[in-house]
Parts: sequence; structure tokens; C-alpha cells
Amino acid sequence: MTTYEQGVGTGAVADDTIGLAEEECAPKKPLWWRILKGTLIGVGVTIVLLVVTGVLLYNFGSMWLPDPQMKAEYGQLVAAGQAPAIEKRFTIPIPGCKCHSKDPVQTMQHTTYRISECNSCHGGGATMSAR
Ligand code: HEC
Repeated sequence: MTTYEQGVGTGAVADDTIGLAEEECAPKKPLWWRILKGTLIGVGVTIVLLVVTGVLLYNFGSMWLPDPQMKAEYGQLVAAGQAPAIEKRFTIPIPGCKCHSKDPVQTMQHTTYRISECNSCHGGGATMSAR
């Protein structure tokens, strides 16, 4: 037996190889490839959308509006001159992301802070105490 015969086998293997080559040269891509490509494009679009959403929320995301009662309390404090009026600015309130403080001033002011600004007061890290 020569080395060539050992490598190729009985001939059935060689036929298979030719069949594969013809498939690869066919103009139409095989179904599995089209499905894979569609999946990859879908995953890619999803990742891009997630990144865009993340950047938007990081730059403009804010806490959810507190309950109306707290808003009213804060309004009274502002009317009495005991708290500064909060400036209106563009923020995207994130559902479920709300301040749990009982202090109306602290809560109302936190609704105008954007996620990108948390660290400037809280200094990052695990604790939330402002530095
Ligand atoms: C302008 C400065 C400032 C910014 C910006 C800010 N905070 Fe605060 N935050 C404070 C201060 C002051 C307190 C009250 C003092 C404290 O609890 O350390 C506080 C308190 C808190 C508390 C309660 C801490 C506790 O132990 O009771 C949380 C939670 C919190 N901030 C989260 C956030 C998040 C999330 C952001 C970003 C959206 C943010 N803060 C942005 C100044 C800020």
C-alpha cells in the first residue's frame, strides 16, 4: 500500500470530497449559512441597540419620579423658601430606579441627576454615601 492510498481510502472518501467542493462552488449559499448569517446580523443589531440605549441612559438617565405626596411636600418647602426650586432638564427616568430616601428635598433633587453625574458626588465605590 502506498501512502497515497492510505490517505484517500477506498475511493468513497474521495467521492465525498468532490461532492463537498461542488456544494461550496454553487452560487446559492447553503441554508445553514443563510440562517447563521441572519442570526449574526440579528445579534449584531441587538448589541448595537443595547449599546445605544446604554449610552443614552448613562448620559441622560435619571431616577424615576417620586410619589406625588413627596412632590407636594417639596413644593411646600420651595414655596416657604426652605428649599431651592429644582431646575428642569432633559432626563430619561429609568423605570424602577427610584430614590428610597424619606427626605423630600434629597429625593426631588436626585430626580434631576443623571447617571453620569452620580460619581461626581458619590465618588463611585460600593457605598452610596456622598463625599
Ligand atoms: C449633587 C450631588 C449628588 C449627585 C449628582 C447624586 N447624589 Fe446621591 N446623594 C447626595 C447627597 C448629598 C446625599 C445625602 C447624603 C448621603 O446619604 O450620603 C445623597 C444620597 C443618596 C442616596 C441615599 C444614601 C443613603 O445612604 O441613604 C442614594 C441611594 C443616592 N444618593 C444615589 C444616587 C444616584 C443613583 C445618583 C445618580 C443618579 C446620585 N445619587 C447622584 C448627592 C448627590
